[in-house]
Amino acid sequence: MSGRQRILLVGASGVVGRAVHEALRSSHEVLTAALADADEIVDLADTQGVVALLARVGPLDAVISTAGRAHFRPLAGIEAASLDDSVYGLGLRDKLMGQVNLALAARAVLRDGGSITLTSGTTSDEPILGGSSLSMVNGALEHWAQAVATELPRGLRINVVSPSLVEGTPVPAVAAFPGFELVSGERVALAYRRCLESGITGRVIRI
Ligand SMILES: NC(=O)c1ccc[n+]([C@@H]2O[C@H](COP(=O)([O-])OP(=O)(O)OC[C@H]3O[C@@H](n4cnc5c(N)ncnc54)[C@H](OP(=O)(O)O)[C@@H]3O)[C@@H](O)[C@H]2O)c1
Repeated sequence: MSGRQRILLVGASGVVGRAVHEALRSSHEVLTAALADADEIVDLADTQGVVALLARVGPLDAVISTAGRAHFRPLAGIEAASLDDSVYGLGLRDKLMGQVNLALAARAVLRDGGSITLTSGTTSDEPILGGSSLSMVNGALEHWAQAVATELPRGLRINVVSPSLVEGTPVPAVAAFPGFELVSGERVALAYRRCLESGITGRVIRI
């Protein structure tokens, strides 16, 4: 899709989201959303809230998510538990199903040829200590998006950006990724622009 697009950016106030917002704001109309301090307040884990937000701000040309949380925890601290009690629950409900539900609900408000861009992360294929929850949800998100790309109607597209460690990430999180390359926000934002403007679908862009 060429020209100026009306975009919902969920997670706009974060390290990744700020870089994407900065890169896109001059050429597109970007509506920001986050848990706080944004045009629209939304919690991805609240499915009804997500559906209501989309109905309120639609129609849209694109939905981008740079949001989603999961716990870091060494495996020794993870016990078998039901989803409600599991360390894995946050990642599955928030980062995985939050983005999945955002994408599913977006179909109702995206114009023909519109796009959905979600965010995974390098742990989908590069494990880190304490990162099993992130690896689980990032891998699942990438494979889910590749599968649904084949079924989306009306020329709708879906892609996932998988960043390495982004410059500006707080020190404690950086420390969890020893030996990983830091990439600039500007470079990461290019991947989101490519998903938005190049016509690709079913792709995972690793940057
Ligand atoms: N930073 C990196 O190096 C890096 C690398 C690879 C992948 N990632 C992934 O990229 C995503 C963003 O990372 P980040 O470093 O930018 O995180 P961040 O700085 O903590 O920002 C997260 C953003 O998402 C919003 N958010 C968080 N949970 C949300 C929810 N349930 N519903 C709606 N909005 C929510 C936050 O809103 P508030 O500010 O209002 O809380 C904020 O705008 C994460 O999923 C992370 O795993 C990050």
